[in-house]
Amino acid sequence: MASKGAFEPLARADKIPKAIPVLQDSDCIAAIDFGTSSLSVAYTTPLNPTTRENVKVVPLHKTYERVPNAILIMKDQEGQDCWKTFEIGHQAQSAYSKMKKKSSENFIYFERIKNLLKRDKLLDRTTQVSSFTGGSYYLIEVIAFILTHLKEKLLTDELKRNYKSTEFDWVITVPAIWKARARRMMREAAYMVSVYSIAGLTSDALGITKFTPVGSPLPRPEEVNPEKLSLALEPEVAAIAAQHYSLVSGSPPQRYMVVDIGGGTVDITVLLSMKLYQQYWKKF
Ligand SMILES: Nc1ncnc2c1ncn2[C@@H]1O[C@H](COP(=O)(O)OP(=O)(O)OP(=O)(O)O)[C@@H](O)[C@H]1O
Ligand SMILES: [Mg+2]
Repeated sequence: MASKGAFEPLARADKIPKAIPVLQDSDCIAAIDFGTSSLSVAYTTPLNPTTRENVKVVPLHKTYERVPNAILIMKDQEGQDCWKTFEIGHQAQSAYSKMKKKSSENFIYFERIKNLLKRDKLLDRTTQVSSFTGGSYYLIEVIAFILTHLKEKLLTDELKRNYKSTEFDWVITVPAIWKARARRMMREAAYMVSVYSIAGLTSDALGITKFTPVGSPLPRPEEVNPEKLSLALEPEVAAIAAQHYSLVSGSPPQRYMVVDIGGGTVDITVLLSMKLYQQYWKKF
């Protein structure tokens, strides 16, 4: 062990006050599960109090089931080089499979793009993805299109524009194994700007409408309301939910394991009650 004195910078460091969890008192929370296979959105509003039993799931199609992580983007006839989401999920898959001429002229189609974020050293904000309809795009902008569409599903279809984007705290789930770079990219996609407008989950402006041509510099988004955007680790979220439901059922277990076998990642979390946790650490 190092002796006391000049070589102990940590001993002299100021104590950092504990951060207050941002979401603790929030009435409006919107959560996006951006899965490899599927997508889902859930939310709470003041009219729909923030007890877990009242968390509402946004029907992304006719049912409340999760929908495949697939997006079909269409050329917007009204704006030059502008694109808008035509469909996501099953509808996107079905429309794409029925397309006679699978060209990139008017449509761009992607599926399961989250898989690309697992690449470690090869991954950066300029990583490109090839569309099934031809052509390459910046991955981060494709994610931004999906997030923008999910935001619209919540605010327009579900909440009929009674709430603004900035009234919500936004949460996006990410796998625990993701490296900082992949997490950073997800945050950046959430703030993504298009040429004309600030997109971003945490802003009230219009969503992304343009793709930056691959090879041109990718603009850095302005980080609007960063305190309103959180990334949540998938296994931790699953564990907290399991803990909550076991408490509701009356006999919470002292130790349990959550195994989330997803379409791209398997996340395993082991939880101990505080009592067991303290006993465990006393041994060391
Ligand atoms: N109700 C179901 N019946 C049968 N298979 C299902 C059902 N729901 C999901 N699956 C399958 O289970 C796998 C995992 O789905 P899940 O939605 O958990 O993945 P994900 O959350 O998108 O992926 P990840 O969390 O790894 O990014 C997929 O292959 C999916 O097709
Ligand atoms: Mg998952």
